[in-house]
Amino acid sequence: MNKLYYGDNLDILRKYIRDETVDLCYIDPPFNSKRNYNQIYNNLGKEDKAQAQAFVDTWTWDTRAEEGFAEITSNYNGVFTKQSIELINGLSKVLGKGSLLAYLISMTLRIAEIFRVLKLTGSFYFHCDPTASHYLKLLIDSIFCAKGGDFQNEIIWAYKSGGATKKRFARKHDIIFFYTKSNRFFFNPQKEKSYMMHKYGFKKSNFQIDKDSGLQYSMVYQKDVFDIPSIGSDSAERLGYPTQKPEALLEKMIRASTNEGDIVLDSFCGCGTTISVAEQLNRKWIGMDITYQSISLILKRLEEHFGINTLKNIEINGVPQDFDSAVALAHKQDDRTRKEFEKWAVLAFSNNRAIIHEKKGGDKGIDGISYVVDSEDNKEVVKEVLFSVKSNAILSPAVIRDLNGTIEREKAVMGYFITLYPMENLVRESKKYGVYDNKLFGHSYPKIEVVTVDDILQGKTMKLPTSLEVLKKAELKMKGNQEDFGF
Ligand SMILES: C[S@@+](CC[C@H](N)C(=O)[O-])C[C@H]1O[C@@H](n2cnc3c(N)ncnc32)[C@H](O)[C@@H]1O
Repeated sequence: MNKLYYGDNLDILRKYIRDETVDLCYIDPPFNSKRNYNQIYNNLGKEDKAQAQAFVDTWTWDTRAEEGFAEITSNYNGVFTKQSIELINGLSKVLGKGSLLAYLISMTLRIAEIFRVLKLTGSFYFHCDPTASHYLKLLIDSIFCAKGGDFQNEIIWAYKSGGATKKRFARKHDIIFFYTKSNRFFFNPQKEKSYMMHKYGFKKSNFQIDKDSGLQYSMVYQKDVFDIPSIGSDSAERLGYPTQKPEALLEKMIRASTNEGDIVLDSFCGCGTTISVAEQLNRKWIGMDITYQSISLILKRLEEHFGINTLKNIEINGVPQDFDSAVALAHKQDDRTRKEFEKWAVLAFSNNRAIIHEKKGGDKGIDGISYVVDSEDNKEVVKEVLFSVKSNAILSPAVIRDLNGTIEREKAVMGYFITLYPMENLVRESKKYGVYDNKLFGHSYPKIEVVTVDDILQGKTMKLPTSLEVLKKAELKMKGNQEDFGF
């Protein structure tokens, strides 16, 4: 079984992942870039881009950092080497207790666990950029090299896309540190194309390689510079996740450091690039992410690429399974990623077919949006469906009236009100607003439907012809599948 964990990877690694069980670990953690990433979705039929906070990439010296510092310096669980303890002590003197040290402490805690879970033959790839790579290499050395592991490569991932500047040379590479747990590590050499420029009388330095040029090439051993385009706005792989990495990048590392059936771990898995490539290459995998948006996106990506049956082979952990865990998520004190309960409710109920709505101005009550396909003047149109989520124990019918007001104002067609606690008064109020008639499918839906968290836990999902779904069904029909459009 493959495993997908929703939660903080430090807790998950410590609680659930046994010693020496993983063949390859790749991580691409937040880079201490001192900014928050916004997830930009590719909305079908929608001109303005909804944004939702994907994850917080800012670090401050807080109680969490202080606790991490104490854990390292007291060698909690016995996983920290003398060198890593000395290093963190030394860095605290050089850097002071601020944002950078908080970030480095957070990484030290996790790298020590990753070292523990790797098999003796296992490999570790740490993806970062020049913001903090010089400190990170010291950290990984202090954990890996001090315990019999070794540094193998500094891989440069070179890309061309993105902006340039006149102030300095344009920054167009990331760094991936490749370490192994011992010198008995598994490595399957990879090859890359080397174009035979001399045959054409070109000097390599002033020749632009065109993928489709049909030039002759030979295969040579892969160098530590990976020339792979990043995910641009027109990339076929693009999912709209801000830090999505190209599959070709992961493919090189997974092929080099694992065989079929081996276990690949990504404890910061984002939109699931590592997972998707591992699945494609018949590796087993373990994914972890702290935001439900990532978990939702990964499930959707796997379903779309490999079919619904792939989902049956995944054990999903950390997602509310019962009322008590849903209540715990709603009342989570330390929610660094913010509004996780609302995101979980919207994405679980919509079966990953809604997008999370970033609160702004007048739309305060809206937590998510989905798009339903309808028809107007004999033309196909896409209409908005709104989601509002509340975890209060007592609510007045005014919340339903407000949702109706927002539906009207936003020119949406209907809304779902998701409540943690069931309330008859809300259901009674919702019935006053009648139905929404979908002309394309000749079907009526309550204009406002009250859904409880218990409904979601029992597997109730939205049954609307959303735009993505309709596109997929249309494609299936074109391939001769006679499946009906029955919703
Ligand atoms: C840079 S993104 C990874 C992108 C990924 N490589 C891809 O191609 O989609 C980093 C991810 O780490 C997650 N993350 C940050 N802190 C985490 C933590 N403590 N535990 C688990 N996941 C975390 C974020 O939610 C985010 O999705």
